[in-house]
Amino acid sequence: MDRFLIRGGTPLKGTVTTARAKNAVLPLLAACLLTEDTCIIEDVPLLEDVSTMLKLLKTIGARVEQNNRTVKITARGKLNREAPYDIVRRMRASYYVLGPLLARFGNCRVSLPGGCAIGPRPVDLHIKGITALGARVTVARGYIHARAKSLHGGTVMLEGYKGPSVGATINTMMAATLARGETVIEGAACEPEVVDTARFLSAMGASIKGAGTPEIHISGGKELAGARHLPIPDRIEAGTFAVAAAITRGEVEITNCCPEHLTAVITKLRELGAEVETSADRLCVRTNSRPGPINISTAPYPGFPTDLQAQFTALLALARGTSTVTENIFESRFLHALELNRMGASIDINGNMAIIHGVERLTGAQVMASDLRASAALVLAGLAARGQTEILRIYHLDRGYEQLEKKVNQLGGKIKRIHVS
Ligand code: UD1
Repeated sequence: MDRFLIRGGTPLKGTVTTARAKNAVLPLLAACLLTEDTCIIEDVPLLEDVSTMLKLLKTIGARVEQNNRTVKITARGKLNREAPYDIVRRMRASYYVLGPLLARFGNCRVSLPGGCAIGPRPVDLHIKGITALGARVTVARGYIHARAKSLHGGTVMLEGYKGPSVGATINTMMAATLARGETVIEGAACEPEVVDTARFLSAMGASIKGAGTPEIHISGGKELAGARHLPIPDRIEAGTFAVAAAITRGEVEITNCCPEHLTAVITKLRELGAEVETSADRLCVRTNSRPGPINISTAPYPGFPTDLQAQFTALLALARGTSTVTENIFESRFLHALELNRMGASIDINGNMAIIHGVERLTGAQVMASDLRASAALVLAGLAARGQTEILRIYHLDRGYEQLEKKVNQLGGKIKRIHVS
């Protein structure tokens, strides 16, 4: 398992380009199963999670041709209708094949994902969505088995007790494109990745209105055709580099991003004292002092994203006073806080709230990455800390950040990857 060695203390300076959004690319690849025509997704990031999704599509029997960053998928001929445990346990987003396989073939089996380091990951809303379209769902031996002679439109409320579900909204929307009649998704997630998937489905011939609002209307039943699509930029990667600029008291210009998708994040950066300039596809973040203390509460889009909570927790560890971070989406997503404390941070966890008493400096230590965004938080802390930080288990990071160390080093950071075979 690879490790990172980070020598902290250098302000990051320069320009960095973000990749296309992992969380858009994963459902887009699954959506290719909705047609037997060839679909093309462009500028696909070279990430572990993308490789896992491509492996799943191949296991299902789709033809996958990858020419550097262009991926062509053709789901024709005899296909398997199963997402096996061995793949789903590695990546929960494997779940995105549920809607397309069911809609196209009238039956499928998808392994239950179980939990992960950020807490329980239920799938009740996914089941609710496809059940509203006429599927019969049984759960046995760790698998969901969904069947339907033919799917029909339906009205379904997908807002759970934690708010809307991105995954369930996208899964239901994909299945509804082939379901006869009108489907209405109420309490839909409004994330940009939902909108991007809807744009791709529309390019394939689907009729979808309201994506990006809490009510999505899908007029389904027509066969879909192949399409070509360029996914949206990765807002979480952009937000991570914004924090990298602020935590190292540097100046970073982030290009190929969409600041419009980061409104809540930019508001918080300005509130803690960073200078932030934006244009349509560029963000520039600059600071030369410690951040001021602020309070953050994660929420569904357009609120502050849970996927940037860990990174901001690292930044606020160095604030001039006490901050709070309340995690409303994945309540136990605080393992990074305990590792940050090993670097000299002073963070108390009380239920779903982190109380962060800002310290003047962090010091390098050996720490362990627990999940994707927690790993990013530890890298950020290491870049700001005095001395050397060693991060173990960085395979989590490779799931969602393409060549993070290369990008950081181009900005003047000092990260070395130690390959361990
Ligand atoms: C997606 C993102 C993930 C992000 C999350 C929230 C991908 C591949 N992953 O995950 O990075 O952190 O959105 O923005 O895009 N829930 C239920 N029942 C369900 C499904 C979800 O109760 O059937 C709950 C979850 O436990 C959580 C909340 O709803 O508390 C939101 O989860 P959801 O939006 O579904 O997250 P994912 O789509 O899995």
